[in-house]
Amino acid sequence: HIAGPCSVVIFGVTGDLATKKLMPAIYDLGNRGLLPPGFALIGFARRDWEHEDFAAIVLEAVKKHARTPFRQEVWDRLSEGIRFVQGTFEDDAGFENLATTLATLDEERGTGGNHAFYLSIPPGAFPVVLEQLSKSGLAKPADGQWRRVVIEKPFGHDLASAKELNKVVNRVFPEHTVFRIDHYLGKETVQNILALRFANQLFDPIWNAHYVDHVQITMAEDIGLGGRGGYYDGIGAARDVIQNHLLQLLAFTAMEEPISFNPAELQTEKIKVLSATKVVEPLDETTARGQYAAGWQGSEPVVGLLQEEGFSKESTTETYAAITLEVDTRRWAGVPFYLRTGKRLGRRVTEIAVVFKRAPHLPFDQTMTEELGQNALVIRVQPDEGVTLRFGSKVPGSGMEVRDVNMDFSYGEAFTESSPEAYERLILDVLLGVPSLFPVNAEVELSWRILDPVLEHWAAGGSPEQYESGGWGPDSATEMLARTGREWRRP
Ligand code: BG6
Repeated sequence: HIAGPCSVVIFGVTGDLATKKLMPAIYDLGNRGLLPPGFALIGFARRDWEHEDFAAIVLEAVKKHARTPFRQEVWDRLSEGIRFVQGTFEDDAGFENLATTLATLDEERGTGGNHAFYLSIPPGAFPVVLEQLSKSGLAKPADGQWRRVVIEKPFGHDLASAKELNKVVNRVFPEHTVFRIDHYLGKETVQNILALRFANQLFDPIWNAHYVDHVQITMAEDIGLGGRGGYYDGIGAARDVIQNHLLQLLAFTAMEEPISFNPAELQTEKIKVLSATKVVEPLDETTARGQYAAGWQGSEPVVGLLQEEGFSKESTTETYAAITLEVDTRRWAGVPFYLRTGKRLGRRVTEIAVVFKRAPHLPFDQTMTEELGQNALVIRVQPDEGVTLRFGSKVPGSGMEVRDVNMDFSYGEAFTESSPEAYERLILDVLLGVPSLFPVNAEVELSWRILDPVLEHWAAGGSPEQYESGGWGPDSATEMLARTGREWRRP
């Protein structure tokens, strides 16, 4: 799986994503021997930089953020193919320069005239950059070459704007050349959901409404939003991660077995399950939202969102969101899927907990806990990657006391292979032209269709409830589950 000759052009090289994720991931690919000799990396930005200045920025990013150890010879090889093109998005000359640079690189390094354009820029700038790529002829491959475009979320802010955006993108790049990044799909533990479900006989017979009571998908973060107001204020937790990451996790958990793992078959199943998914009503009772107030993160006092730099003092942006979904299929009829995410929660953890129905009969009289007989399979996405199976066991001793215990699989213990960073995996797939792990247009639109009613409901409903930093979210989220006689897991 080594990429063929190509060049990668990054728009937005001065941004956080490029420095923390993209440049290091490209180096890591080189370090693992997955880049071809005919490879080039081009940065496009307004800065008045020479090639060497840009190379120095890349080097710094690599040294700080790469996963794999630094090796001089790998860097030397990579840096020979690094170029910088100065320009603004509106300026034709910049794009003409880019075209010349790419052509020269092809002659010098043999990049095969294949280009991936990575738009690591605010979505407001998509139309102009796409237009320029089209006008300069860069979007059109000659015979035997390819062009691909990589875009980062947000893919719109509701269904209508997503449709608009998709139109703009597809006007220049046909759908099969568009790679939308949802970096959760690049995570090993997320891809492993498919292995767990479809490589085993053990789970499938009970993976349905006969045995499953409900599913909880949690993405909790301990970090706050200081400095991210420009992106986050007015967007909020639901648009930021439920629309994409959490609904993709739901799709992997709930979809039917694809005929094969080729991209089209996988997408077919994801589209089917998302089409069957909708929010449970009434939304007052089945959703909850909150905004973090001051509190503690570890042993440090932290401020609330409204005191964070970059947020309006009247901001009604939610930093916590929980919703109840149902998947209207025979497999899942009546099984609630609870999705929650929040900033400044007790700890950073992402997991999918499939919680089973209580055993129908328990022939034990004393000391049974409430939970006993309610088994759970927990897919630990991060940071402690693995899977936990929770079930009752006899407590050693002369009685017949039963207590819940965990059986754990941990990546660190089971595998000697290290997991590639999500971006590393996804960038390689772009270069290889394998779109399985990239949501298509239809998935993006279906996800907005699911979420739009919630967003409208919240927009009409005033301010979100305040919750203390370092806790587990607003009371309304606890009540949301309590109403159905259930409780959130404390990961
Ligand atoms: C991003 C969100 O998509 O994912 C961020 O915009 C969030 O708000 C981040 O912090 C979390 O990613 P990860 O891989 O650290 O779970």
